[in-house]
Amino acid sequence: MGGRSRTRWAAVALGVTGLLCAVLGAVMIVVVPSLIRQQVLKNVRIDPSSLSFSMWKEIPVPFYLSVYFFEVLNPEEILKGGKPEVQERGPYVYREFRHKINITFNNNDTVSFREHRSFQFQPAKSQGSESDYIVLPNILVLGAAMMMENRPMSLKLMMTLAFSTLGERAFMNRTVGEIMWGYDDPLVNLINKYFPDMLPLKGKFGLFAEMNNSDSGVFTVFTGVKDFSRIHLVDKWNGLSKVNFWHSDQCNMINGTSGQMWAPFMNPESSLEFYSPEACRSMKLIYQEPGMFEGIPTYRFVAPKTLFANGSVYPPNEGFCPCLESGIQNVSTCRFGAPLFLSHPHFLNADPVLAEAVAGLHPDPEEHSLFLDVHPVTGIPMNCSVKLQLSIYVKSIKGIGQTGKIQPVVLPLMWFGERGHGGQAAADVLHTAGADAQGDALRPVCAAGPGRCAAARPHHLPGAEPGQMLFILEW
Ligand SMILES: *[C@@H]1O[C@H](CO)[C@@H](O)[C@H](O)[C@H]1NC(C)=O
Ligand SMILES: *[C@@H]1O[C@H](CO)[C@@H](O)[C@H](O)[C@H]1NC(C)=O
Ligand SMILES: *[C@@H]1O[C@H](CO)[C@@H](O)[C@H](O)[C@H]1NC(C)=O
Ligand SMILES: *[C@@H]1O[C@H](CO)[C@@H](O)[C@H](O)[C@H]1NC(C)=O
Ligand SMILES: *[C@@H]1O[C@H](CO)[C@@H](O)[C@H](O)[C@H]1NC(C)=O
Ligand SMILES: *[C@@H]1O[C@H](CO)[C@@H](O)[C@H](O)[C@H]1NC(C)=O
Ligand SMILES: *[C@@H]1O[C@H](CO)[C@@H](O)[C@H](O)[C@H]1NC(C)=O
Repeated sequence: MGGRSRTRWAAVALGVTGLLCAVLGAVMIVVVPSLIRQQVLKNVRIDPSSLSFSMWKEIPVPFYLSVYFFEVLNPEEILKGGKPEVQERGPYVYREFRHKINITFNNNDTVSFREHRSFQFQPAKSQGSESDYIVLPNILVLGAAMMMENRPMSLKLMMTLAFSTLGERAFMNRTVGEIMWGYDDPLVNLINKYFPDMLPLKGKFGLFAEMNNSDSGVFTVFTGVKDFSRIHLVDKWNGLSKVNFWHSDQCNMINGTSGQMWAPFMNPESSLEFYSPEACRSMKLIYQEPGMFEGIPTYRFVAPKTLFANGSVYPPNEGFCPCLESGIQNVSTCRFGAPLFLSHPHFLNADPVLAEAVAGLHPDPEEHSLFLDVHPVTGIPMNCSVKLQLSIYVKSIKGIGQTGKIQPVVLPLMWFGERGHGGQAAADVLHTAGADAQGDALRPVCAAGPGRCAAARPHHLPGAEPGQMLFILEW
């Protein structure tokens, strides 16, 4: 196992979606009455002279990751075959920082980069602290039980012995900090000692362990400088033009962009496609309706009902199976065989039997659906909220040193939302720029309404002030 795969196992959660919920466009806004198309083209491509470049490189707008856990209230009853009862805890909120590193322009109209990310706990925005204790399914133990299914009897017996000796239980009581960023697990240490190649994991185990100060892998994307038609599309990820996690070519395709910007000049037939390294797949959001964000016209894109549908309900998803009920996606192959499933929070848009099987779940489109509001002329996100849930499939506790009989169930572990807070940032940095359309400078009209225009001061292009970018809007 290489270092890379170890990293990916240790970070079991689909921590960040790959969709950059960072409302890039809200940073600075300008209108140019003429030459719109050329100016937009010139300024949204990935090129150091483009206005969006420094914003692309380093995201200037704060954005936040909110994590909610599903605390298990009745572990003893579950182990006797009872219906699981959970209670949502959180949010535990982290400020997320991202910037691109190792940016290399290739000579074929592409650029390669990694995206570095780090997280910082925000006590004031959270309901609770990182030292709160929470009872959750023990992913390692339940995952091992599943992986043991087809292993030789001798190995199963050893595992059983190990589990009971180490006091490993099907449910664990740990702090938020441990669950997120990792804890030393005696089981992992033991297995690594005697079967060094069995687990793709060394050291600490946690849902987001190794996500802090990590990166997204190497993306190679089209810059749009020479050929505009493929602007922002992913050419390769980690050198691959398709992945091999799934069972069909269609599901293995790397489609769309890296999830931060899209081709400009959208219309209602446009969709937002992107590749998510954390979900190991491409996804597509569809147009829902036009709207306004802070005075800026936007298109709202949402998840189609079929995003996580199973192969019988939506045949193109067959390659993601073996599946269970519709609305949860088996991500086992991209999590080293752990029986994990990806869905909308509270099993929104999924077969209702899933939410009914666990007491305490209340799917609500208002609270649990995801959307991206994109400025259609530039293809830049203005406002977004991305929410996903991770669940574990529990089938049996045989062979993990515990007695009793559990009912097979998909138990939600946690869900998280990523939210860009662009509104205030937009209001804070709104400016206009003065210029003529001939040169580098532009003659803009303030974008966000007459009130703000009056307060805005002219700036010269490009760049005006460090960290602030000018955007060209038309409506
Ligand atoms: C990034 O570039 C530096 C210097 O070129 C190199 O030493 C480093 O290994 C690269 N890092 C990654 C993760 O590729
Ligand atoms: C462009 O060049 C990079 C670096 O040499 C390479 O990895 C990539 O496959 C090339 N892409 C195309 C479309 O030629
Ligand atoms: C992430 O790493 C940084 C730098 O090492 C550290 O300051 C920060 O506290 C870490 N975040 C979490 C949530 O552990
Ligand atoms: C979890 O552990 C903490 C600290 O040992 C303890 O205070 C708490 O009561 C435990 N919670 C449960 C549900 O057992
Ligand atoms: C990728 O795009 C192709 C062609 O549009 C489509 O058939 C396929 O389903 C897409 N794959 C994924 C995983 O979205
Ligand atoms: C999930 O997918 C894996 C790998 O394809 C498969 O072995 C497993 O049985 C599937 N899980 C369920 C519950 O269908
Ligand atoms: C797919 O989902 C439907 C609806 O939830 C369900 O009836 C069907 O059994 C599922 N298919 C598989 C293969 O599990």
